[in-house]
Amino acid sequence: MTLNSILFTAKKPDISYECIVIKKSMSVGIYFATTTGKTEDVAERLHGLLGGTDTPKDMSDVDDLKEFQDHDGIICGIPTWNTGADSERSGTAWDTLLDEISELDLSGRKVAIFGLGDSSTYTENYCDAMEELHRFFKTAGASMVGYVSASEYTFDESKSVDNGSFCGLPLDEDSESDLTDARLVKWADQLKNEIPGLA
Ligand SMILES: Cc1cc2nc3c(=O)[nH]c(=O)nc-3n(C[C@H](O)[C@H](O)[C@H](O)COP(=O)(O)O)c2cc1C
Repeated sequence: MTLNSILFTAKKPDISYECIVIKKSMSVGIYFATTTGKTEDVAERLHGLLGGTDTPKDMSDVDDLKEFQDHDGIICGIPTWNTGADSERSGTAWDTLLDEISELDLSGRKVAIFGLGDSSTYTENYCDAMEELHRFFKTAGASMVGYVSASEYTFDESKSVDNGSFCGLPLDEDSESDLTDARLVKWADQLKNEIPGLA
């Protein structure tokens, strides 16, 4: 966390006083979990597109989830591996952390989720795990952002769609990798409007 301080002295006829203005810069963390590396790769690409974000961190290396509370914004990447499961859909480190996330106080924090999946082979369960992460962060009081219209995708079903929108950004590096760059650029621009401190 960076602190910028401005110190100035003002004088009135017979009083002199000093005023310190402390401005805290916004902090935005990127977190991911992965099995074959695709979610990590996308986290790095997003970091390159979003000035103001910290270096992406693997959830396997996070010892204390309370560090989420040090951020004003959090961007989370999650793949889907447990096809059709009701719970623990990601098959990664996120699964065992969901309850703990919901017990945090993340009120006032903006949280955006991106998901990795395969819209062709797993078209009935496209990026299902995003919904789970979205739900637990919401329970923690976070203000959820980064929603994307489902009309921009070809798939049959996803637990991550509500009212015509995905609860984050779905990406398909298996069957539609040629679309990922444009999707990332567009989402990065959206997040710059939704999460303070991004440039
Ligand atoms: C056994 C298996 C199950 C999968 N299940 C799903 C699924 O249910 N839904 C989906 O969208 N993608 C599914 N995928 C695709 C992965 O989510 C996709 O390859 C993703 O990019 C992996 O991300 P990672 O490399 O970060 O682990 C599955 C892949 C495999 C091999």
